[in-house]
Amino acid sequence: MLLTVDSINTFYGPSQALHGVSFDIAEREVVALLGRNGAGKSTTLRSIMGLNPVAAGAIHFDGRDISKTAPHDIARLHLTLVPETRDPFVLLTVRENIMLGYRPGSPYTLERLMHLFPLLEELLKKKGGELSGGQQQMMVIARGLATGPKLLLLDEPSQGLAPIMVKAVSRVLNELKQEELSILLVEQNLQMALEIADRVVMVENGMVVDTFTAAEGVAQPARLEKYLAVH
Ligand SMILES: Nc1ncnc2c1ncn2[C@@H]1O[C@H](COP(=O)(O)OP(=O)(O)OP(=O)(O)O)[C@@H](O)[C@H]1O
Ligand SMILES: [Mg+2]
Repeated sequence: MLLTVDSINTFYGPSQALHGVSFDIAEREVVALLGRNGAGKSTTLRSIMGLNPVAAGAIHFDGRDISKTAPHDIARLHLTLVPETRDPFVLLTVRENIMLGYRPGSPYTLERLMHLFPLLEELLKKKGGELSGGQQQMMVIARGLATGPKLLLLDEPSQGLAPIMVKAVSRVLNELKQEELSILLVEQNLQMALEIADRVVMVENGMVVDTFTAAEGVAQPARLEKYLAVH
C-alpha cells in the first residue's frame, strides 16, 4: 500500500475529532473521502500531513512510519496537500505561486502544467490575488503538482466555484487519473467524486463507517445518502 492510515485518534485540545480512523490507498488509486460537514475529512488530511499530529495509531506512507514526522519532512517525501483554504500568495505572480512548489525532478514542469491548465497560461504574469476563485484553485493544484507528488491530497477542490470552473477542475482531475497519479480527494460534489474515484471511504463523527467502490456507490445510492446531506 502507498498509504496506510491505521486507527488514528486526533484531538483539538480536549475535543476528539478522529476516533480510530483506518483506510488505505494503493499506488495509482483514487480514493474519495466523503462525509457531512464536520465529519473529520480535513482533520484526516491534516493528520496525514502531520499538521494535526495523531495522539494514537499509525500512518505509513511509501514504506515509512510518518506518524511522528514533522510536516516539512513529510512534504519532502512527495506527499502533498492542496488545502481547502487554498493559501494563494496574493502578491506573487501566478508563475511564482506555481514555481514555489517546484521540486527538481518533478515530472510536472511549468510547460507540462500549462498543457494541463491552459487557462493559467495567459495569467502567468498576474498576481495571485487578481484571480477568480476558480483560477486560484487551478493555480494551487498546479503548485501541488509541481512538487512531483507520489500522493496528492485534495481538500474540496470544487468548493465555491462556478459550474464552469467545477467542470474545468473535474477535467483536470480526470486527466491526472488517466496519468495514474494516486489521489485522496475530499469532495462535496458527489457526481464529480464518483466519476473520478475508484473507491469511497465514508466518514461520520470522526469514524470510518463504510467503504465501497465508486461503482457500488452508483448502484447503491442509499449507501451514499445515509451519510451525506441530500439536497
Ligand atoms: N481548529 C479546530 N479547533 C477545534 N475543533 C475543530 C477545529 N477544526 C475542526 N474542528 C472540529 O473537528 C471536527 C472535524 O472537523 P473537520 O474540519 O475535519 O471536518 P470536515 O469533514 O472537513 O468538514 P467540512 O465538510 O465542513 O470541511 C468537527 O467537529 C470540527 O468542529
Ligand atoms: Mg473540511
